[in-house]
Amino acid sequence: MSERKLKLNLKVWRQKNASDAGKMENYFLENISTDMSFLEMMDTLNEKLTKEDKDPVAFDHDCREGICGMCSMHINGRPHGPLKGVTTCQLHMRSFSDGDTIVVEPWRAKAFPVIKDLIVDRTSFDKIQHAGGFVSINTGAAPDANAIPVPKINADEAFLAAVCIGCGACVAACKNSSAMLFTAAKVSQFALLPQGAAERYRRVESMVAQMDKEGFGACTNTGACSAECPKEISLSHIARMNREYFGAKASSESI
Ligand code: SF4
Ligand code: FES
Repeated sequence: MSERKLKLNLKVWRQKNASDAGKMENYFLENISTDMSFLEMMDTLNEKLTKEDKDPVAFDHDCREGICGMCSMHINGRPHGPLKGVTTCQLHMRSFSDGDTIVVEPWRAKAFPVIKDLIVDRTSFDKIQHAGGFVSINTGAAPDANAIPVPKINADEAFLAAVCIGCGACVAACKNSSAMLFTAAKVSQFALLPQGAAERYRRVESMVAQMDKEGFGACTNTGACSAECPKEISLSHIARMNREYFGAKASSESI
């Protein structure tokens, strides 16, 4: 598709810090190339604000290639914007039209407090991961791990869970701000592998307890999390985490 130039009306959430009430600010941009990424468009806005001696918009980003999970932006009411299976950094301005109004907000969830403008604190995700998203038993050196046979179907399913980038879009999309899809992806990736089996019950109980402690809401099976997930993590991982959890409870009661 050939390059076009866009004029855009931006409505961007500005909030000085966690205690500031925050408000939407309007900005007008022109000559935005349709070949730019969304973040390059935000960079252009920030260059303009800096030249005008105004505070640039704070937003998270790192890899800009869809793998780090930092680029958390609610664009026109959808986490990561209008395209399915795409992070904000991989969204291009060709997905918008000349004269569009684009509303940009941070993730909205109690467990993700705003630090500044579009940046939220996702330490709660780190704490869930620290509670059990690892293998601490000795699995030997790399060649030994490779010698453990894993059924292809399980390896593929574990990989599909492991592609979760921890972005938080699932929480932002959920009306309950539930973190079930994220936590389920992290539990599933180990539950499917023999290396994860030894700690499976301790892991799921500990991660679910931490998830609840961080203040995320309950899952009511709306499926918004999976529909908006840029890595298209399946709801089947939530079902697997629930099975793991019930298995853990049944095993502790039978001891
Ligand atoms: S499950 Fe999807 S939306 Fe949620 S943190 Fe992982 S990649 Fe992001
Ligand atoms: S900046 Fe890394 S996933 Fe978007």
